[in-house]
Amino acid sequence: MKLLILNGPNLNMLGIREPDIYGRQTYRELEEYIRKEAQALGCEVEIRQSNHEGDLVDWIQEALGRFDGIVINPAAYTHTSVAILDALRAVRLPAAEVHLSDVDAREPFRRVSYAGLACRKTFQGHGFAGYRMAMEFLCGEV
Ligand code: DQA
Repeated sequence: MKLLILNGPNLNMLGIREPDIYGRQTYRELEEYIRKEAQALGCEVEIRQSNHEGDLVDWIQEALGRFDGIVINPAAYTHTSVAILDALRAVRLPAAEVHLSDVDAREPFRRVSYAGLACRKTFQGHGFAGYRMAMEFLCGEV
């Protein structure tokens, strides 16, 4: 079981950005958490982050034939990117969406998720644990 973990814009700023919403743990700590939990679940992970929409689209396309599933936190692109939605639909890999915060309890524009339309499940408002939940979910699906 090989999962591609994708993180979108500004998630590299974890620990610095809006700590009241995202907490004080850093992006490096998130990566360590994901690796540790993946090992416990017995799945292989590759973790990538980009601030650029096209990188995320390229990585989703390249996942075809190389990964069994995708865990994606598209960050702000969640609410805007038809390109990421189309890429997820194109490869048709099982995908799960993660948000650290509870996007439904924030500004109304965060209630729309394009990427989520191509994901089998969304985990939001659970902080880092949402990534473990998403990996566990995909392990059970594939
Ligand atoms: C986020 C929620 C998005 O609305 C926001 O733009 C982010 C992070 C989250 O993990 O809670 O950058 O995806």
